[in-house]
Amino acid sequence: KETVVSGIRSTGKLHLGNYFGALKNFVQMQNEYNCYFFIADLHSLTTHPTPADLHGNVKNVLVEYLACGIDPEESTIYIQSDVPEIAELYLYLNMNAYMGELERSASFKDKVRATPDNVNAGLLTYPVLMAADILIHKATKVPVGKDQEQHLEMARTFGNRFNRLYNQDYFPEPYAFSYSKNLVKVPGLDGKGKMGKSEGEGNVINLSDSPEVIRKKVARAVTDGGPTAEFQEKPEAIQNLFDLMKIVSSEDTLAHFDEQYNKMAIRYGDFKKQLAEDMIVTTTPMREKISEIAADTAFLRQVARHGALKARESAQKTIREVRELIGFRSF
Ligand code: TYM
Repeated sequence: KETVVSGIRSTGKLHLGNYFGALKNFVQMQNEYNCYFFIADLHSLTTHPTPADLHGNVKNVLVEYLACGIDPEESTIYIQSDVPEIAELYLYLNMNAYMGELERSASFKDKVRATPDNVNAGLLTYPVLMAADILIHKATKVPVGKDQEQHLEMARTFGNRFNRLYNQDYFPEPYAFSYSKNLVKVPGLDGKGKMGKSEGEGNVINLSDSPEVIRKKVARAVTDGGPTAEFQEKPEAIQNLFDLMKIVSSEDTLAHFDEQYNKMAIRYGDFKKQLAEDMIVTTTPMREKISEIAADTAFLRQVARHGALKARESAQKTIREVRELIGFRSF
């Protein structure tokens, strides 16, 4: 069986972007592959969370993983900071990651633009830590959304460089994966760009949002005055809502509103109502499980412990071999 690794940062509630870009594939892949799914709490340190927030967010992602259907008997579910071997591999990989390439990464440049007063070294070497996450289990498939594609390319670069340096074919090449033909990019509700927390709470639909909250957020989504000519190309804000409908609604529903749009007969109120209802249908089974699982602390503790043991076993094997390759040998 091929090995699969993926993770989500512990920075708050999970949203439809996380679900359709990553989680939905996690759930499907666990029957087919040797899967490691983790909570990227080390990555979330770049923004300096308080200890209480960090702990709460880690728990939140763990609960939502389970609520989405990741099965701790099928997959190894663990918290990144429970596996210190990852940090060790990160240190080794950092020796062959160069300033220039790290500075050129699109996500780094975005962060520099967004938070110019917090350009720390952890942010710069974020892709190296991500490469360590993947290479520590020698994974080949990484289910992620479109926004992570460049990071996967960097993971291949760092793995290959290690292989060349030590004249080995040690790390296999990891590739971004999705069951859909292309990697997924779920748009947000603000009329521009992807769904993401940094664009504000009104831009995202969380898996835990109540039906009332979903209706309100969708009702407030950016639209325009309506089409002004038949078969007009849709402006970005409208196209985004259609893309969301394509993800959560049936083909018939999508075709109906598309036709209405093309005939200049669309009523955005009805369109948004339908979109909100289909989002509610998508999220309800998960939302209902979230509160139930969150209350079961003993179960969560057991999942995290069991996962950490399994993940460390795999990570320790890699680190033993890597140390040998590097030349850390006992006398
Ligand atoms: P993060 O925490 O930002 O997002 C987690 C996953 O959700 C996907 N995603 C989206 N997909 C489609 N449309 C969207 N609007 C959208 N928003 C988020 C992301 O692509 C990702 O798959 N660096 C990673 C976490 C990470 C990781 C790893 C992933 C750390 N180490 C090793 C894979 C392997 C991140 O910040 O994801």
